[in-house]
Amino acid sequence: MKKIIIAIDGFSSTGKSTLAKQLAKKLQYVYVDTGAMYRAVALYTMNHNLINIEDFDAEGLISKIKDIKIHFEFNESKGFAEVFLNDENVEKEIRSLEVSQFVSQVSTISAVRAKLVEQQQEMGVNGGIVMDGRDIGTVVFPNADIKFFMTASADKRAKRRYKELLDRGDENVTYARVLKNVESRDYIDSTRLDSPLIKADDAIAIDNSDMGLEEQFERVFSLVNSRLKG
Ligand code: DC
Repeated sequence: MKKIIIAIDGFSSTGKSTLAKQLAKKLQYVYVDTGAMYRAVALYTMNHNLINIEDFDAEGLISKIKDIKIHFEFNESKGFAEVFLNDENVEKEIRSLEVSQFVSQVSTISAVRAKLVEQQQEMGVNGGIVMDGRDIGTVVFPNADIKFFMTASADKRAKRRYKELLDRGDENVTYARVLKNVESRDYIDSTRLDSPLIKADDAIAIDNSDMGLEEQFERVFSLVNSRLKG
């Protein structure tokens, strides 16, 4: 059977990665979390003192961009690929609220985007891939075989994300901070000049504010299946 490219875009914490992982597992495709790549760059920026709350040294980051190497390694026990920054596994660190607070700023930089988009396009050359992010259906794979665009209310998304952070043992987190982060990322992601988050004309919109994971998967998988057969 033909190995297709599945693009999943949408706002933060809409469950893109959960859906993408389910699809990749079912189809035995490769799953690529492009948000993890932007998060790894944000972590690099923080670790090299190129950023603090008010001040972000974009020029400094651009001058160091060639020193940033990102790759994924499949973790059998977890069932998905973990992200490495300069050969160090940073899968856990990149999920912190601190990284979430800087990542949207970092991802407005065109030099960062150009580097990561090129790497993402290489990963998809043979098809058989599920990729999630903000610009997959519009910029990375405008000719993807099927595209989804996920949305949910900011309140629902913040509640899900807050629970995830609490489950991970993040003690400094409050619901208000998470909601603020979700709203501020929505704003930066959808208003930036380079590759803003927008729905591709041919993407299928999925609002999962009131949809369970199973229902969502079944709906999406049947659409993918028709594309595979059609
Ligand atoms: O999917 P995520 O929340 O882990 O993504 C983190 C940030 O990375 C998001 O706020 C915007 C940025 N991002 C992007 O600009 N383009 C992508 N393809 C993926 C993520």
